Amino acid sequence: MTGDLFESVADPRTCQQSIAEGAVLLRAFARSVEQDLIAALHDIITHTPFRHMSTRSGHQMSVAMTNCGDAGWVTDRSGYRYDGIDPQSGKPWPEMPSVFRELAGRAAAAAGFDDFLPDACLINRYQPGARMSLHQDRDERDFGNPIVSVSLGLPAIFLFGGPERSDRPRRFRLEHGDIVVWGGPSRLFFHGVAPLADGEHNLLGHQRINLTFRKAH
Ligand code: SIN
Ligand code: FE2
Repeated sequence: MTGDLFESVADPRTCQQSIAEGAVLLRAFARSVEQDLIAALHDIITHTPFRHMSTRSGHQMSVAMTNCGDAGWVTDRSGYRYDGIDPQSGKPWPEMPSVFRELAGRAAAAAGFDDFLPDACLINRYQPGARMSLHQDRDERDFGNPIVSVSLGLPAIFLFGGPERSDRPRRFRLEHGDIVVWGGPSRLFFHGVAPLADGEHNLLGHQRINLTFRKAH
């Protein structure tokens, strides 16, 4: 896939940018609820702290993770799965706060996907140097629902490729409050995050937090 096919169709009024067919970057969309998001996040991580999970091959991920909602995404030596129980505590993940759910629904609708009702919110913490290699989100039951991905804290370079792993990804700088929604024709596109550069964010310090909303079941 060539890099310029869907290049930067920006609408200055809405700050919406189409980045591929079915994929939209909503600039600063989460800013209006940032305080509530961060308060809810702190609440969640006191119950279910961030942890570095391992992949099937035994490789420890540089991104630390936790979850809220009915279905938590986990990986360990047996592979990837959605699990209603936090394997670390043996208890269900915290409920998805309404400020999370409503934001995800509004962002999906703004991107053209009505009635998005996520049951899974993966919470990723990137400290300087942490990265996410190119992958597809394909552990969900129905690919008819989009992915809604909220960025908070330090800026990061989001890599957005195509349907094949070999498609050269384009790079988008995601800042605090930006949301990327992808679904429909780009639902299974490869994506990742370049190693996080150090910096200091006024609300979140030396880290980036990403909330990934999905309908898993
Ligand atoms: C992910 O694809 O799981 C994370 C994306 C991001 O951190 O922006
Ligand atoms: Fe992903």
